[in-house]
Amino acid sequence: MESASSIVQYSHASWSWLPIISSLSFITSFMLLFLTVVRKRVWCDCEICESYSESRWRIQFHNLCDWYTHLLKNSPNRTVHIHVLNNTITANPENVEYMLKTRFDNFPKGKPFSAILGDFLGRGIFNVDGTFWRFQRKMASLELGRVSTRAYSFQVVSVEILQRLMPLLASAAEIVDLQEVFRRFSFDCISRLSFGLDPTELELSLPLSEFIASFDLASKLSAERALATSPMVWKAKRFLNIGSERRLRRAIRTIHVVARDFIRERRKVGFSDGQDLLSRFMSSVGDDDKFLVDIIVSFLLAGRDTVASALTSFFWLVACHPEVEAAILKEAEEVIGVDSAGCDQVKELHYLHAVVFEIMRLYPPIQFDSKYCVEDDVLPDGSFVKGGTRVTFHPYAMGRMEEIWGSDCLEFKPQRWIRHGVFVHENTFKCPIFQAGIRVCLGKELALMEIKTVAVSVLRRFRIELAQPDHPPRFSPGLTATFRDGLPARIRPRSSNYTNFN
Ligand code: HEM
Repeated sequence: MESASSIVQYSHASWSWLPIISSLSFITSFMLLFLTVVRKRVWCDCEICESYSESRWRIQFHNLCDWYTHLLKNSPNRTVHIHVLNNTITANPENVEYMLKTRFDNFPKGKPFSAILGDFLGRGIFNVDGTFWRFQRKMASLELGRVSTRAYSFQVVSVEILQRLMPLLASAAEIVDLQEVFRRFSFDCISRLSFGLDPTELELSLPLSEFIASFDLASKLSAERALATSPMVWKAKRFLNIGSERRLRRAIRTIHVVARDFIRERRKVGFSDGQDLLSRFMSSVGDDDKFLVDIIVSFLLAGRDTVASALTSFFWLVACHPEVEAAILKEAEEVIGVDSAGCDQVKELHYLHAVVFEIMRLYPPIQFDSKYCVEDDVLPDGSFVKGGTRVTFHPYAMGRMEEIWGSDCLEFKPQRWIRHGVFVHENTFKCPIFQAGIRVCLGKELALMEIKTVAVSVLRRFRIELAQPDHPPRFSPGLTATFRDGLPARIRPRSSNYTNFN
């Protein structure tokens, strides 16, 4: 039996809960009212919208991008409109060219889209238009375009491979998650290349692992905002600081603490004669640390997750195609011999270049990309786009369109990029992996060099055996394509003469 005192304690406890219970019921009523309003505003009962809103597409497809591909394949002009998202989605190369080049000014990132990523990316290059964008683009393209930067980048990547990646793989446990390995590798590379700092050698206020986990979480939660049928849902959660928005706020706080450490370290080392991007920006931006933080976050996002995603897909697909692996090794032997590869030799690896493009055709690191239509417009395929709505082009779906790639579009065939033994690039609007037109990726050459150098170095030294062969990827929501279950693999040393590791 309960004693009298415990009953009193219990009743005191329940009184003390009263303010919490009443606040919760206020929040719940507010949310219900709010959701009723939102539901009215964006409701649509067409089959596609219902399938989206109720996630019914999951019955048939593992990934949202596969469902969009299915819809786009079945649309006569390869364009569909998702009414509940107010979003026109296209896989038509003429539309892509129109948005990214011909009518560039009518299809900026736009305020609604910038708001989605604003807390995470701030005024960083990925998230702005106009003056802020032009300034960052000019600075970054000057820096990344220099011949000396290219040579330096190759040196940094080679050292990272030799001193970190190879020893790590050589001593790997029975099964290792290659995706995690590449995420860490590309993080170290981009930090050294863009900020002139080795993150493992810095004195940081928080553990690096916490920073990286927060970075991943912020990317995931920011991307999830874009999936909501109305921005009012996440804006209300942000206002109330609850659920995913509370976690996002915490993650961003952690990211900012560490990014400020990067700036402090750079100041300590000195930046006036630094060759890295951060030093250049610091010389021009002065003491605007908030802007410098945004620049750091954007460049980490640009250079880390994309490269890691491409490398993960690379090792997955090559492990599934031993004939491709053999052809890569044969070409490497002919071009490089048994020594370590030089920068010019890596450029000469045409077949490997084709493999990398074929992988990104089927598994682009950025699966779709959205713009905002300023004024009413009509796309070349006749689709009307209302001013103030979103337009998305979909490289993942475009890689699977028969009219672009032929009836074998679903097959993994690196040879399709080769003519007379030389890599030949397709029209970039047909395959906008690096975007195309006026805002084309500034790190394309750097990324290709990094991916190819890692690929050839690892393949010559190790055999990769997938722990789950023929396990098609399921992607996590995020700004870049990430395998939900990682890429578990066994790493077996090859008996070869390549003693220099690459
Ligand atoms: C496989 C690797 C990569 C892929 C697939 C890729 C793809 C892309 C795409 C699709 C965009 C357009 C994004 C948008 O505007 O929404 C972009 C922009 C950009 N990328 Fe990359 N990227 C890669 C690697 C890199 C690397 C290593 C850097 C190094 C710094 C970099 C720097 C940039 C920058 C600065 C922009 C912004 C350009 C602008 O808005 O004017 N990228 N990239």
